[in-house]
Order: sequence, then C-alpha cells, then structure tokens
Amino acid sequence: MLLLMDTANIKEIKQSIEMYPIDGVTTNPSIIAKEKRDFIELLKEIRDIIGYDKMLHVQVISQKADEIVEEAKYINKEIGGNLYIKIPVIPEGIKAIKMLKGEIKTTATAVFTPQQALIAAKSGADFVAPYVNRLDNISANGIKVVSNIVKLINIYNFNTKVIAASFKNVEQIYGVCMAGAHAITVNYDMINQMIFHPMTDWSVLQFVKDWENFYGNKKIRT
Ligand code: E4P
Repeated sequence: MLLLMDTANIKEIKQSIEMYPIDGVTTNPSIIAKEKRDFIELLKEIRDIIGYDKMLHVQVISQKADEIVEEAKYINKEIGGNLYIKIPVIPEGIKAIKMLKGEIKTTATAVFTPQQALIAAKSGADFVAPYVNRLDNISANGIKVVSNIVKLINIYNFNTKVIAASFKNVEQIYGVCMAGAHAITVNYDMINQMIFHPMTDWSVLQFVKDWENFYGNKKIRT
C-alpha cells in the first residue's frame, strides 16, 4: 500500500516525511495556489525535500491534448525524478494520456465513475484517482466506486493502480483500503487523525504515571 501526502505545504511535507512512512506527494492546482508561490520553484523545493525516488504527482492546467502534452513535458523537464503527471479524465485528457504513454507516467484524475477509470486504464494511465469525499458529498458511495474500480482493474489485469483521493474522515480511508486501493493520498489533518486514538493517549499517560509513582524522575537510560 502506498501512502502519499495531498499537500504542497512545505512545513506539512517536512513534518509528515519525518514522522510517517510516506511514499510521495500529490498536488492539484487548488493545493498549489493555496501556497501563493511560483509554481516551478515550489515544486522544485518539494522535490528537494522528498528526494528523486519518492513519487510526486503534479497536475496540468490545459484542456487540449496537445497543450496537456506540452505542459507534461515541461513539468517533467523542470522537476524530474519519480514524477506522475495528473491529467483529468476529460476526452482530451484521455487522448493526452495515450500520447504520453511510454514517455511520461500519468495519473488520471477527477475520476468519479468506474467507467472513467476503465477508459483511463485502457489508455495506459499508471494511476487512476477516484475522489471519495466528493462522491459522498453528492450522495454517491465513494468507497463502493473505489471497490468497483479495483475489481475492474483486476478482472482485466491492467497495470494501472488505484490512488484513492479526497478524504474527510478516517472511515473513508479505512473503507478504500479494505476495498484494495493500491494507494491513498491524504492531507495533513487526515494522516494525524489516522494515528490518533484517545485510548492510546490515555494508556500512555497511565504508563508514565505508574512509572513515576515508583521510579520518580528516573529514566530507563541515564
Ligand atoms: C487528488 O487527486 C485530489 O486532487 C484531491 O485529493 C481532492 O481532494 P479534496 O476533495 O479534499 O479537494
């Protein structure tokens, strides 16, 4: 299972990389714009922090296949490393995914149905990114959609992996993992929520209290 951070915030990336077993970073134009910085300069800084081996997923802006391909090549030239170009699953995006196959790795994004994922996978996308919370917000079932995409990929033996995205609670994350999603991308709040449990904190506090009752300030290693 791959675990990625859905953020372009340098502080969040540094802290999560240090703390958790992170495989890479995903961004989208909204996430990037929030940082109010030069696009390439910000991505270069992220690349420096995560290194060349970890995945970095960067989205294009254009909506015409030729322009998407140009943008993908430009980002690839400037940023390099283990890079995936995120391309929305509009028809021109699918055309661009086909054009880039074998040259630049792609992540088909803004996926809301198994049918879109199927076309993207057949076009050669390396990842497909279904948006779980955005599906739940329109009274669809995000986990079910991810589950069906995983099943289709397995039925047809595509090399494409599912990177489930857009989470607002840990139940959604748990659900897509149980459904066999190959990867998840989560924001900083979600990764911290994944590890938090009040009983864990209470237990740790209890251990410390019991230790101190007998040993006082004495440490295990002095
Ligand atoms: C990932 O590809 C998406 O850009 C992202 O996860 C969307 O998340 P949001 O619905 O929380 O904005």
